[in-house]
Amino acid sequence: MEEITVHADHGSWLQGAKAIWSIKMGQELKKNGAISVTLFLIIFIISALIAISWVDISIFPGASSQKALITSAESPNSTQKNNGYSLNCSTDQNTTQTCPKTYPTRHEPDYSSSSSEACPEYFRWIYQDLEPWRKSNGISKDLVESGKSVADIRIVVVNGRVYMEKYRSVFGTRDVFTVWGILQLLRLYPVKLPDLDLMFGCGDRPVIRKRDYRGVNAGKAPPMFHYCGDESSLDLVFPDWSFWGWPEINIKPWESLIEELEEGNNRTKWVEREPYAYWKGNSRLSKTRRDLMKCNLTDKQDSNARLYTLAWNQESRKGFKHTNLAGQCVHRYKIYVEGVAWSVSEKYILACDSMTLLVNPRYYDFFTRSLIPTVHYWPISQNDKCRSVKFAVDWGNSHPAKAQEIGKEGSKFIQEELQIEHVYDYMFHLLNEYAKLLKYKPTVPPEAVEICSDTMACKAKGLDRDFMTQSMVKNPSNKRACTMPPPYNVSDLQAFLERKANLIEKVKMWEATGNFSGFQF
Ligand SMILES: *[C@@H]1O[C@H](CO)[C@@H](O)[C@H](O)[C@H]1NC(C)=O
Ligand SMILES: *[C@@H]1O[C@H](CO)[C@@H](O)[C@H](O)[C@H]1NC(C)=O
Ligand SMILES: *[C@@H]1O[C@H](CO)[C@@H](O)[C@H](O)[C@H]1NC(C)=O
Ligand SMILES: *[C@@H]1O[C@H](CO)[C@@H](O)[C@H](O)[C@H]1NC(C)=O
Ligand SMILES: *[C@@H]1O[C@H](CO)[C@@H](O)[C@H](O)[C@H]1NC(C)=O
Ligand SMILES: *[C@@H]1O[C@H](CO)[C@@H](O)[C@H](O)[C@H]1NC(C)=O
Ligand SMILES: *[C@@H]1O[C@H](CO)[C@@H](O)[C@H](O)[C@H]1NC(C)=O
Repeated sequence: MEEITVHADHGSWLQGAKAIWSIKMGQELKKNGAISVTLFLIIFIISALIAISWVDISIFPGASSQKALITSAESPNSTQKNNGYSLNCSTDQNTTQTCPKTYPTRHEPDYSSSSSEACPEYFRWIYQDLEPWRKSNGISKDLVESGKSVADIRIVVVNGRVYMEKYRSVFGTRDVFTVWGILQLLRLYPVKLPDLDLMFGCGDRPVIRKRDYRGVNAGKAPPMFHYCGDESSLDLVFPDWSFWGWPEINIKPWESLIEELEEGNNRTKWVEREPYAYWKGNSRLSKTRRDLMKCNLTDKQDSNARLYTLAWNQESRKGFKHTNLAGQCVHRYKIYVEGVAWSVSEKYILACDSMTLLVNPRYYDFFTRSLIPTVHYWPISQNDKCRSVKFAVDWGNSHPAKAQEIGKEGSKFIQEELQIEHVYDYMFHLLNEYAKLLKYKPTVPPEAVEICSDTMACKAKGLDRDFMTQSMVKNPSNKRACTMPPPYNVSDLQAFLERKANLIEKVKMWEATGNFSGFQF
């Protein structure tokens, strides 16, 4: 079904109707008198009713249609399978690429065949992150704008159109692929997202510190979207750019990478893997990584760790060809250690079926707070890494069934709960919950420019272009977003955090005594 009825305008329609009405009234009165006036009145009222219901359908996602229906010039033929959206790149080099003139005004897929599934547990953190602004009765425009001094970009969505203002330069293509992700979300759920106004920090570390918003400054923290947070910050965690690709280091969009990782897992059985803990990365990023390097195999010691430094400059010249993540699932244990802050590598490491040895982290991203030690990963002590790694590997090699189970559980979490659909749903719910707190109707800032998939992808080159093409949402979703779990209440949250802390403590004690037998999972 196709229909191009975009931005039906109540006001001008009414004016037009009034004009016709008065002209007709005059003519009819002169000609035939009262009877035809009455007739005309009846006809007019009927047609007005039809017109009004037509207008309503276009503005409010209608209740009338059960069939998948998307009204847009961007996807002129929605019945065409797998080809709902396409890029419309201008072939004339001299004209600037423009965004589609019209956007969907309604999208009502046939939901009857699919009931909405429940979102993963980690969605509960959405409420937790937004709690400070719920407590302080919402988010004003001034509050959002007070974040300008630390934000890198601002993204505004008005009637499905996206506008961006860039405040400062950002490392690599982080901002580009972050914004790309948001554009794809809007393609996946057209007409389902409210107007938005968000400030985004694209750096490594969280930017809004709790301690700056106490006392007289309480309630004045600007809401800031960012890729990670920690206990001392208030950043709203949002999926990082790598889900849509990281061309600088040849990391493909998540949707295809997650499949390759599964294939990689099938290539080598756990028992046939090297019985050591593997890590490869840029070791100079943080003290904790430099520290870990001391655990590498030498003539004098063997902590069961095999650690490799990624020569960033050298690799980058070779296009990071040797950094094939799916080919790295050949060790029974893989270490995760933070860099400057959280690291995008966590999902790749967990997805390997190898037991993840996770050096107890300080930062979290949007999904990691729901990972449970000894269930999804093995906790490694921050202060005594070498001993802790050695112990974990020795334990795993003497309890292979249990170690494999932890490896599998970690990968299952990634393969099931971190599918790209869930990533989009997380963004969807976070942005919806955030928008509920906005106390104003977002408007387009004077300095902002409109962006869309066409303006971004058409001018992109090389790997950037490839990754955008690969990660582009090609069809609007025919399913509802998953159903949010309830927020944590105080006792739930307390119990959850205690459970995690206790498990970490248990492993620590276990390491200290070297006595395995007292450990109950
Ligand atoms: C839409 O696409 C389908 C399948 O390709 C085709 O049969 C149909 O005629 C198209 N409709 C319009 C209005 O172009
Ligand atoms: C594609 O863009 C060109 C130029 O901007 C425009 O004339 C044309 O109508 C667009 N086509 C579609 C399908 O939006
Ligand atoms: C684009 O602009 C250049 C320089 O102004 C001109 O030489 C060229 O013919 C133009 N190309 C087209 C396709 O209009
Ligand atoms: C990996 O192996 C599992 C179990 O044998 C199988 O179900 C799955 O399809 C395989 N996946 C890939 C990507 O080869
Ligand atoms: C760790 O040890 C291995 C084996 O001896 C060696 O190949 C590697 O370069 C070492 N890594 C670092 C970071 O020194
Ligand atoms: C907290 O929520 C759980 C369900 O998630 C419920 O069983 C419990 O009674 C609640 N506790 C309080 C104090 O509200
Ligand atoms: C190991 O721990 C178990 C349970 O806590 C205890 O019964 C056992 O005596 C301990 N063994 C040693 C050698 O300490």
